[in-house]
Amino acid sequence: MAQRVVLHTDIRKGTINRNIYGHFSEHLGRCIYEGIWVGEDSPIPNTKGIRNDVVEALKEIKVPVLRWPGGCFADEYHWKDGIGAREGRKRMINTHWGGTVENNHFGTHEFMELCAMLGCEPYINGNVGSGTVQEMSEWVEYLTFNGVSPMAELRTKNGREEAWAVKYFGVGNENWGCGGNMRPEYYADLYRQYQTYVRNYGDNRIHRIACGPNADDYHWMEVLMREATRFMDSITLHYYTVPGATWEQKGAATGFDTAEYFTTLEKALRMEELVTRHSVIMDKYDPEKRVGLIVDEWGTWYDVEPGTNPGFLYQQNSIRDALVAGLTLNIFHKHSDRVRMANIAQTINVLQAVILTEGEKMLLTPTYHVFNMYKVHQDAELLDLTLDSGSYSFDGKDIPEVSASASVTAEGVIHVSLCNLNHAAAAVLPLELRGLAGQAVDIAGTTLAGATIDAHNSFSEPEAVVPQPFTAFKLEGDTITVELPAMSVTVLKITPK
Ligand code: AHR
Repeated sequence: MAQRVVLHTDIRKGTINRNIYGHFSEHLGRCIYEGIWVGEDSPIPNTKGIRNDVVEALKEIKVPVLRWPGGCFADEYHWKDGIGAREGRKRMINTHWGGTVENNHFGTHEFMELCAMLGCEPYINGNVGSGTVQEMSEWVEYLTFNGVSPMAELRTKNGREEAWAVKYFGVGNENWGCGGNMRPEYYADLYRQYQTYVRNYGDNRIHRIACGPNADDYHWMEVLMREATRFMDSITLHYYTVPGATWEQKGAATGFDTAEYFTTLEKALRMEELVTRHSVIMDKYDPEKRVGLIVDEWGTWYDVEPGTNPGFLYQQNSIRDALVAGLTLNIFHKHSDRVRMANIAQTINVLQAVILTEGEKMLLTPTYHVFNMYKVHQDAELLDLTLDSGSYSFDGKDIPEVSASASVTAEGVIHVSLCNLNHAAAAVLPLELRGLAGQAVDIAGTTLAGATIDAHNSFSEPEAVVPQPFTAFKLEGDTITVELPAMSVTVLKITPK
């Protein structure tokens, strides 16, 4: 089959929710502490204790929503430990992640300040595993109640008179695992109970999020949808791309071979099957598609960098990660009728991070650049696109060579994102534009490519992998023929004149 794309510029398939471009920051390793929070007295330039460089970089990619405080940490977190004068806050061991001292200096007020600086929606994950209904209920009251109440009074005493607006609230995290090792039947009942006390105060309307399955645990999805659909607005899905066969040997972030490169992309592509099959179950209980699927943890998970704390999950990030990001976001676009939010794990210094820091230094990873190039899709209308992708074969296995998605902005500008997964060859691809009725177009493009399968940015070479203008295209009639470099993510901008 010849490789080609047919793009119907006049067939719209729904809005790509900007929240698909969401992020996740946990009290884990150097994500919050060092990555975001350095404290007001730090020599690292900061505003109210939050790093200025990181805020600027995250604003650039238009982070729409940020999930916090975990992760597994969420079901051990007691929010009252993180309010009031910082010197007086409890110091404790972060037992789940690295055994380091958690001084609770980054708490509710600091997180809400960060979201205000970024201009993003907060997504707060409550504690079901080791917290009480009262504790969760009071957190929502503390955050969102304006009026006479003990929690509103406490908030005012802590320097914030006006309630915040909080839309997204998660009722537990991975309650099938680190969040309590529950059976779905048991969690479904707990979910129903806890969410009852996650109240809407005043005009604030909470979008209640139930803990969904791990990867292909279709039974969990079935039970939750059967027992609790009417009590939820969304349900989550977690899926990590782990190249190795076991958690003990996940594979390295750099220095891997071609077989591991291929396997990583093959495993990342599995997101398509997972979202499709979970959506089928959701359709059974929610044919109107009222409930959203939120993939609030996704990304690559490798062995930690040699010499670093195994509990910190610090890993490098290469062009391979950029391809995982590009193809996964393309999958989310395709399923945007159900996938309403996704949160890559995790923003800074942890897993598939968009930013790495070392003291006062900061670098942008290849994954960051994909989020920056793809931000044009946020809230745009998904366009109908048919892709006949050739195969990328390795060691007797085949995966599609190209991943593609397209959208149109309110102003009529079309963006096509294209990933060439092939590590060895450029992909030459005719892209036929239909529905423009002879209208002329301007074309521009940006591409991110790697010279080697593990090309990455380091503190000594922070710009080894950066976007470049893309000029390898030719327009003839209504067909643009593009030549996508090996291992590249490209975004084309097509502007009708
Ligand atoms: O993102 C790291 C961890 O992965 C999260 O804390 C947990 O939810 C998941 O298992």
